[in-house]
Amino acid sequence: MSHNPFHDTVFLLGAPGLEHLPADTGREVAFAGRSNVGKSSIINALAGQRHLVRTSRTPGRTRELNFFQVRAGCRLVDLPGYGFAKVSMAQRRGWGELMAGYLAQRQSLVGVLAVMDIRHPFKDSDQDLLRLLQESGFPAHVVLNKADKLTRGDGNDVLRQARRELTLAGAQVQLFSSVSGTGVEELRRVVRGWLE
Ligand code: GTP
Ligand code: MG
Repeated sequence: MSHNPFHDTVFLLGAPGLEHLPADTGREVAFAGRSNVGKSSIINALAGQRHLVRTSRTPGRTRELNFFQVRAGCRLVDLPGYGFAKVSMAQRRGWGELMAGYLAQRQSLVGVLAVMDIRHPFKDSDQDLLRLLQESGFPAHVVLNKADKLTRGDGNDVLRQARRELTLAGAQVQLFSSVSGTGVEELRRVVRGWLE
């Protein structure tokens, strides 16, 4: 097996707001998506570590921007999930402001992974994220997670459909499953390419 470049990833810090982010140097890649789509699980799968990031059946687990250091100057960022029905309007507005502020100011951000549940991708809130990424001009990559929940044929149908629907310039789409390992190597290549 080839060496996994994410193997030595460690937790760096959790930032409750934009004034708490780590130094804006080097390069970082962020994971964005609705609550419960599996963002934190994907980071664990990339690192090949079970308990690097806390995951949960309960949506809204990740409330802060959590930073992980892959190696000196290279970070992964687990963003709080959006679209969680139980949060208040004020919290929802807070999420939008946090995201917009983060995207607007973060010099070291080199790419964003837009994570979706393959069983219901491209929800309104996902479209909002894609629009935000389009406007801010960041390279984006769409990850259709929980591919293990569909048959291979159905998964490939959704993938083809997603490729047709995705209008975000330059963005690619892939299948992923933290459970079966589908797409892990593909995603490692994408993220490593961005961080290099
Ligand atoms: P928030 O922090 O609330 O935004 O959620 P998150 O996007 O970080 O999701 P998390 O990784 O905590 O996973 C949510 C639930 O989905 C957990 O119960 C995971 O075990 C499950 N899950 C994550 N990835 C997969 C996958 O590929 N397949 C299946 N079947 N379940 C998954
Ligand atoms: Mg999470």
